Amino acid sequence: MSDYLRLGVNIDHVATIRNARGGAHPDPVKAALMAVEAGADGITAHLREDRRHIRDEDISALMAALTVPLNLEMAATQEMLDIALRHKPHAACIVPEKREERTTEGGLDAAGQFDTLAPVINALNAAGIRVSLFIEADAAQIDAAIRLKAPVVEFHTGRYAHVEEQERADELRRIAEAAALAMKNGIEPHAGHGLTYDNVGPIAAIPQIAELNIGHFLIGEAIFDGLAASIREMRRHMDAAR
Ligand code: PXP
Repeated sequence: MSDYLRLGVNIDHVATIRNARGGAHPDPVKAALMAVEAGADGITAHLREDRRHIRDEDISALMAALTVPLNLEMAATQEMLDIALRHKPHAACIVPEKREERTTEGGLDAAGQFDTLAPVINALNAAGIRVSLFIEADAAQIDAAIRLKAPVVEFHTGRYAHVEEQERADELRRIAEAAALAMKNGIEPHAGHGLTYDNVGPIAAIPQIAELNIGHFLIGEAIFDGLAASIREMRRHMDAAR
């Protein structure tokens, strides 16, 4: 358990804005370097099957430019596995992916997809890439993560972020219990999705959680306050809660 909570900044939506006009601006690598300067401990990027935001060349450019860990979010497909093995990012977070979804809706069914996930995780583990599974805060999913030998799980905080007040307390309890269970079994818990200045505190206060990955809100806030200021403000909320 560590007092310091790492912040991974997800830069996907810098690429979303770039792709809206098809050019090179704004550059996700420039945003990543600014994020690091402002206090990001790592950079997260999701290379989707449809390349709707981050593209293959972004991953190459990030690998070349970054001095902090790159966390590559990827579906458990042969194509993505080949890309991860080629680039060898610090970490790979395996996420479920549906072509028609707007964002990653719900966690990976690690228990139900055990046989599909096992060879992908084994290959990533063998290459020294730190595997994380993006799962719901659920004992059956943690059990699958243990059996799959994933060193990290990232709890999907989307429900926590979007449900009503009363249900939010239940969801928070579920995440806190799951973080304790993961830690007890030697798995490092992370969390992310839908986190904002207003809702990050209770998640940041869960002592076992070692890292948060935050994207959409920070890129949105950057429109008003600038990227560096929005990252510093998120860091302030995280540190205050810890
Ligand atoms: N963690 C994972 C695994 C994700 O897929 C995402 C969204 O791409 C995030 C964190 C960040 O979520 P948000 O953009 O809502 O902050």
